[in-house]
Order: sequence, then structure tokens, then C-alpha cells
Amino acid sequence: MLPYSGLLSLILFIELLCIPLTLLVPVPLKLAIDSLTGVRAMPHFAAHWMPASLSPQNAELLLAAALMLVAGVLQYVLSFFSWLLQTYTSERMILEFRSQLFQHVQRLSLTFHDRKGAGDTTYRIQNDAPALSQIALKGTIPAITAVLTLAGMVYITARLDWRLAIIALVLIPCLFLVTHRYSDRVHDEWTHVRERDSRAMSVLNETLSALRVVKAFGQERREYRRYLVQSNRYVRGQMQLAFLQSSFYVLVGLTIVAASAVALVLGVRHVRTGLLTVGDLLIVMHYLSKLYEPLGMLSGKWVEVQAALVSVGRAFTLLEEAPEVTEYPNARGIGRAHGAIDFRQVSFHYDPRKPVLREVSFSIPPGTHVGLLGQSGAGKTTLLSLLTRLYEPTAGNILLDGVDLREYKLADLRDQFSIVLQEPVLFSTTIAENIAYTCPQTSRSDVVQAAKMANAHEFVMQLPEGYDTQVGARGASLSGGERQRISLARAFLKNAPILILDEPTSSVDTKAEAEIVEAAEALMRGRTTFVISHRPIALQHCQLQFELKDGKLTPLSWDVRSILNAER
Ligand SMILES: Nc1ncnc2c1ncn2[C@@H]1O[C@H](COP(=O)(O)OP(=O)(O)OP(=O)(O)O)[C@@H](O)[C@H]1O
Ligand SMILES: [Mg+2]
Repeated sequence: MLPYSGLLSLILFIELLCIPLTLLVPVPLKLAIDSLTGVRAMPHFAAHWMPASLSPQNAELLLAAALMLVAGVLQYVLSFFSWLLQTYTSERMILEFRSQLFQHVQRLSLTFHDRKGAGDTTYRIQNDAPALSQIALKGTIPAITAVLTLAGMVYITARLDWRLAIIALVLIPCLFLVTHRYSDRVHDEWTHVRERDSRAMSVLNETLSALRVVKAFGQERREYRRYLVQSNRYVRGQMQLAFLQSSFYVLVGLTIVAASAVALVLGVRHVRTGLLTVGDLLIVMHYLSKLYEPLGMLSGKWVEVQAALVSVGRAFTLLEEAPEVTEYPNARGIGRAHGAIDFRQVSFHYDPRKPVLREVSFSIPPGTHVGLLGQSGAGKTTLLSLLTRLYEPTAGNILLDGVDLREYKLADLRDQFSIVLQEPVLFSTTIAENIAYTCPQTSRSDVVQAAKMANAHEFVMQLPEGYDTQVGARGASLSGGERQRISLARAFLKNAPILILDEPTSSVDTKAEAEIVEAAEALMRGRTTFVISHRPIALQHCQLQFELKDGKLTPLSWDVRSILNAER
């Protein structure tokens, strides 16, 4: 909120200007009524301004009307500006908070996202973060003005009749007590409500993103029920919250009504004995009925602020989540790596009960082509994820060109890799932009060149709009093999010193595979390359083959001569 302190103070200033205007509201009525009942109420300063021809009664009426108008106009003009300013400040503040969260979430490790899922994180950014402005604009500022308004009302009441002011003064601590009792319960209840709402959203999120599977297995009803269960819990929570809040408002309201009744009796008796004029009584009664506003505001706000605090707390939990993969403060940059890789006693597990890699060690010179074999689930993808620091080894170190990966700048490190993921991921944009994802400035001819190498050019040209075809959300309008070839082209286009191909040809036919392997061979030349594949043809250009089994890496074949050549 700090960067917005200037704007916030301006809003506070405008709101403070409104306080005297609020206090003025009953005064014209007091003037009019006192004038009617024959009490001379014209203040001295106003008497000079009145035309001499007016009778005192009419002059008082004119003053009352003028006062009403001026106070009204001022109040509405001020609230006009206040509204605009508040909207601007709150929207900017939310935007900044959300962008901070978004950036942070992108930095958080995959371990975190694997655990939390996208739904909850989305909810925290989109639905919880806005509560920040609620605290400042709908909580703190109204609370300050409410306290001051309250003080003004009590002061004026005391000036008119101190006994009536005592009633107001007794009322205030009672109301604070009630508020205090309720706020904790509301806080707890609100925490549950937010959690349930976020869970309902996660179900929606998951179902919609996997709708193909849901439909194919006919599980719409079951997902619907899952959604309904979570949503019903949310509704129950909301009802409990509403019950708490409305009973709180009833309690506050009744306390004030009781106090007003006492004040009415006392006030009328004072009017009879001449201590107060009818107009004065009107002011006091008006203030008492309006005490509800600042007090109700204070206590009501308190409850709302509790709710907002819960939301902001959830958003901050996200912000406080430390990225597991971090960068040293004085991390070194890399221009272009040579591509020598060393694994030294590297161990890794997602779950401590199930180690994936156990003290894996190997060392390869720059430009080596490594084939990685192993059963499904052996940890091949995991091993290569460690190389790009998507996950951190639980023990041991990995060196690139003789330097521990952790000592490099993260962005620079990841820039050294061209990767074809096992599950190709496309974005909902054109084919050309998908291929040029890492280097948007690339010319069309380079994109086409990469597509040709990846055996994608032919099918792209058959699409009605060629390279400008939109691929739909996550590439839904392409076949599995087509998606894979686009992601191959993407890796081919990025001129990085290390190439990682995780089953690059698993979804294409054997003819296309042979062509892709031939094309990739040219690209692999001079680059350190890791190829994971179950098909021998994809591994034919690898000088070195490892098999991953039970968390251990064993060399299958060595082609020392070609390694030496590569090194040279
Ligand atoms: N994000 C994850 N969280 C927890 N466990 C995981 C995660 N990813 C993989 N695993 C587990 O780690 C082990 C190795 O997975 P990995 O994806 O590395 O296998 P793989 O050798 O690439 O298999 P495949 O040939 O099927 O692609 C598996 O037993 C898998 O269950
Ligand atoms: Mg894999």
C-alpha cells in the first residue's frame, strides 16, 4: 500500500472534509423548527447577510434553505471526486499486487505447483488479492472518518445537553464489546468459506482443462457432483457467515434503539423544563439515530476487514512461498556454454519414500550425444529436468562446463537448452508464433526452415491458413504427431548449445521418424545432446548410451572415438 500513500492521504483528506458537512445535516431542520416554535435562532454572523426587508421568521427560513443547499452541493461534489479517486487507487493497487503475485508464482518451483494445482493459485490471485484495497479504502479510511464523526457528534450533543451525551458515551463501549466478540468467529468462518470456494473453482478448472477425458469416459455427472459437493459446502459456510453477521447487526441496532428510546424520554423532559429547544432535541435525536452509522460502520467494517484480512492473508501466503530453486545474489552469467556436463553423486526424489535417482555420476565432454534408455517411470525425464533446474537434486551436484548449475543465473542457464518435452505444449496462437516462441523476432524463412527439419512443413502447408493457422487452446486443433513436430521445430529454431529430446518421435510414423532423425543429426552436430527414446533408430547417432534402472545409471555402449572427435 505504501506506494499509494499519497493517493490514500488525498482520499482521507476529502473524506475528512465531509465530516463537518455530515454534522451539519440536521441543522437546517433545527433552524426551521425553532423558528416555527417561536425560538429566535438566527446566529449573529448570518443576520448581517440577510436582506433587511425580510421578517425574522422568513430570514431564518431562507438561512435554513441556503444551508441545506450549500451543504448538499459540497457533499455531493466531494463524494464525486472521492469516488473517482477511490476507484482509480483501488484498481491500480489491485493490479500491482496481482502482477507481483503472478510474477512470483511463475518463479515458484514445479514442486509447489505439482502440490497445489492451478485452481487454488488462480483463486488466490484473482479473487483474494483484491481484498487489499478493501482493507485500505473500505476499512481504514472509513474507520478514521467514523471515529472523528462520532467524536464530533458526541461533542455537539454534550454542548447541547451533557446528560444526553452520557447516553452516547455509555453506548460506545457496549458496541465495541459486541464487535470484539463477533470478529474472531467471523474471521474463522470466512477462512473456511474462502477455502471451500477455492476448492469448487479447482474442480471447475480441472474438469474444463481435462474435458476430453471427462467426456470420453462419460464422467460428466461425477464431476458435476464433485463440483456440487464443494459448492454446497461453500453455501453452508456463507449461510453461517450471514447468520453471524446479521445477528451482529441486529444486536448493534437494538442497542442503539434502546439508547435512542432513553434519550427521547430524557430529551423531551428537558425540552419541557426549557433546558433544550425542540430544534436541539431534533439534532440530538438525529445524531443518536446516526450514531448507528459511524458505529455500525466501525463495527461492521471491522467484520468486513476481518474477511478482507483473511483473503489478503491467503494472497500473502502465496507471496511468502519461497521459490525452491533460487539464484545466488552474485550468480554468474553465461554467454554460450560449451556443453560439458558432470553429474556428481546426484540423488533425487519427489517423495522421500521413493527415490528416483541414487547417486548418479557421469561426465561427458562438450558435443557428446547421449542416448538415455530405461523403463517407463525409471526417471529419465526427471534426470533431464534436473539439468535445467526445474527441480533441485536432493544430494550431489551437477556441473556445466565445470561450474555448479546453482552458480549460474537461472535465465542464462535455461537459455543454454533447447528442449522437446515428452508432452508437447502449444499455446493458443498461430503455428508460426508457436515455433518462434523463444525468439519472436525470427524471420518467416527461418521458421519455415525449422519446420522443414522437423518434418512439419508439409502438413502446415496443407492447412487452410498455413503458418498463420490458429492452433486452438493448447494446440487442440492439431493431432498428437503434428503437435510433436511443431514442438520439435521450436527446439530446432532455438540455437542453443545443449539439446534435450525427450521421446521426440514417439507420436510420428516410422517414415517421418527416419526423416526427423536425419534432420536432427545435422542439428546435433557440435551440440551436447540428450535423447530419450524407446526406439533404436532415434538413438543411432548417440555415441554413448546409458540405461537408467533402479535409480542407477549404467553405460551400455561407448564409442570413444566419436566422443574424442566431438571434443576436438
Ligand atoms: N511431479 C512428480 N511428482 C511426484 N512424482 C513424480 C513426478 N514426476 C514423476 N514422478 C515419479 O518419478 C518417477 C520417474 O518419473 P519420470 O517421469 O522421470 O519417468 P520416465 O523415465 O521419464 O518415464 P517415461 O518413460 O514413462 O516417460 C516415476 O515413478 C514417477 O511416478
Ligand atoms: Mg519421461
